[in-house]
Amino acid sequence: MTGTAGAGSGNGPAGDAESWTVLRLMRWSGAYLEEKGVERGKLDAEHLLAHALGTERLQLYLEFDRPLEAAELDGFRPLLRRRASREPLQYILGRAAFRELDLHVDRRVLIPRPETEELVEAVLEWAREEGGEGLTALDVGTGTGAIALSLALEGPFHHVVGVDNSAEALEVARVNRDESDLGERVDLREGFLFRSVRSGETFDVVVSNPPYVAESEAGDLQPEVGEWEPGGALFGGPDGLDVIRGFVAEVGDHLRCGGLLAVEVGADQTEAVAALVADTGQFEEIRVRRDLAGRPRMVLARRLLRAS
Ligand SMILES: C[S@@+](CC[C@H](N)C(=O)[O-])C[C@H]1O[C@@H](n2cnc3c(N)ncnc32)[C@H](O)[C@@H]1O
Repeated sequence: MTGTAGAGSGNGPAGDAESWTVLRLMRWSGAYLEEKGVERGKLDAEHLLAHALGTERLQLYLEFDRPLEAAELDGFRPLLRRRASREPLQYILGRAAFRELDLHVDRRVLIPRPETEELVEAVLEWAREEGGEGLTALDVGTGTGAIALSLALEGPFHHVVGVDNSAEALEVARVNRDESDLGERVDLREGFLFRSVRSGETFDVVVSNPPYVAESEAGDLQPEVGEWEPGGALFGGPDGLDVIRGFVAEVGDHLRCGGLLAVEVGADQTEAVAALVADTGQFEEIRVRRDLAGRPRMVLARRLLRAS
């Protein structure tokens, strides 16, 4: 290709290595990704190029005029192609940032979201207010282990159990636990909801970001989500609440009296979930918390000292 190729040309960073500088490739690739419907195409192109060159994204800004070698272009091209097919950036990079963690991610797990960082924040605030030391927590549907590992890393939690019914997701959680040095404090178990939790085993906190997308909404999802992330991590039956109903029905058996229930749900589900929690007769101080964008996204409640 020649030095004049643009995103609309259908050409790409092929051959003619000398004509491609860092700046020119960044610009071309960003426009190409945006043309393919990628929301932040320019930013993603920078991440992919930095990854291909084995450098930091901001370093690219210091090397605008550096010509790229053929081998570097060869390394970059398949990454760009994958993102253009709407594979999530995090799966291509194999990493996702979550609070203080840099997690391994791939198609076996949901990519942790910023809203879930706020769910962790809500639990940490509660722990601070309780003034407790050596607390315990259970994370139901742990996926990458994002919530469980963050609580063990950032909070006064000496024992955190993460459960998931997906053996594949747990493989990823184990990789993340091993990378984190939190192995002794984080126990990962395979099982449907509370089945891997012993009868009578209770925690100070039970937290969950369960699957809650209604099956009818599958067609509304971005390709990055609907076509790439695991369905078992996304969908909660016809109205999205199937997993949450089972979770709420049993959660009281595994929370100590006065302990915290914290669950992330869809913005249109908080009232229904708060009602499910109230109907158990096991909770008080049932409240809805909003995310940083102001959307109601979390239901929190305290386990009654004595169930009614
Ligand atoms: C929305 S993802 C959350 C992953 C991670 N906790 C996070 O916040 O990024 C839901 C997780 O719950 C798991 N899951 C779905 N149904 C489950 C069930 N009935 N019992 C246990 N885990 C379940 C899925 O495999 C998936 O890893």
